[in-house]
Amino acid sequence: MTLAYAPGKVILFGEHAVVYGRPAIAVPVTEVQAQACIEPGVAGQGVVVVAPDLDRRVVVCEAADDEPLACIVRLTLETMGRERDPDLTVTITSTVPIARGMGSGAAVSTAIVRALAQHFHYWFPSRAISDLVYQTEVLYHGTPSGIDNTVVAFEKPIYFVKGVGWEVFWVGKPFWLAIADTGIKSSTREVVGDLRHGYQADPARYQPLFDRIGEIAVAARSAMEQGRTEALGQLMDENQALLREMGVSCPELDRLVMAAREGGAQGAKLSGAGRGGNIIALVAKETRGRVDMMLRLAGATNVIVTEVE
Ligand code: PMV
Repeated sequence: MTLAYAPGKVILFGEHAVVYGRPAIAVPVTEVQAQACIEPGVAGQGVVVVAPDLDRRVVVCEAADDEPLACIVRLTLETMGRERDPDLTVTITSTVPIARGMGSGAAVSTAIVRALAQHFHYWFPSRAISDLVYQTEVLYHGTPSGIDNTVVAFEKPIYFVKGVGWEVFWVGKPFWLAIADTGIKSSTREVVGDLRHGYQADPARYQPLFDRIGEIAVAARSAMEQGRTEALGQLMDENQALLREMGVSCPELDRLVMAAREGGAQGAKLSGAGRGGNIIALVAKETRGRVDMMLRLAGATNVIVTEVE
């Protein structure tokens, strides 16, 4: 039996603007994980991927080209130079919430690549894993920026510019985030698509919003590197105001953002595509219990507190 894992992620700054070439920052969240387990299968079965939590069973050789689980298996086997379909059962379990902006698709795909590589004693650099996973992100999300597969494969804070590159960077002083779930599924493909229509109809309205979000991401990176945590809260608040103006927030997200601030968070914003999914709030040791409570009272279906380091 071979086991491999991959973490979830949150975007700290720059979602949506990143699709239009502005920088964004994302960090891994190791409190949630996808796991892929490989066991020998019955002769002649080929690769079968099962996801018991989702009640899914995918026979790779029969699956459509755009089936993401089959796609990542095929791509990985091809890259490792294995032409024949091996008889393997790949079981997927995951604690990364689905469709909440925490990179569940990228985590599952990354865990599958890592498990297959381990099973066949093949070594993939993180960059190669990220590139393979990007191809399944296209199937999940349409026109993804590539930030999810990058941060999940590297498992480090990432400064990312679509089409240009990314940099792993170091956080000067660790800080704490509360991640609170609205309980509402969010379709990245839909929200990104709606924003694209708005942008195409009136680019002059959106360009300055994207520009300012990009500036915030640049400022946030230096604050994180220099350990100036106190500057981050205000940047989160400003980023949230711009996301609201772009129409990607929703009343449930706004309510959680307010609750976090009332609980003593230094700043809060939605994370990911928006219109559902999670908010993130900057908390301190002394405030995190109270923020957690306020978020739950305001309707959060789950709260994860994670250290960014
Ligand atoms: O909700 P998520 O984690 O899939 O994040 C979407 C982030 C966007 O910037 C809105 C889209 C993208 O591809 O970067």
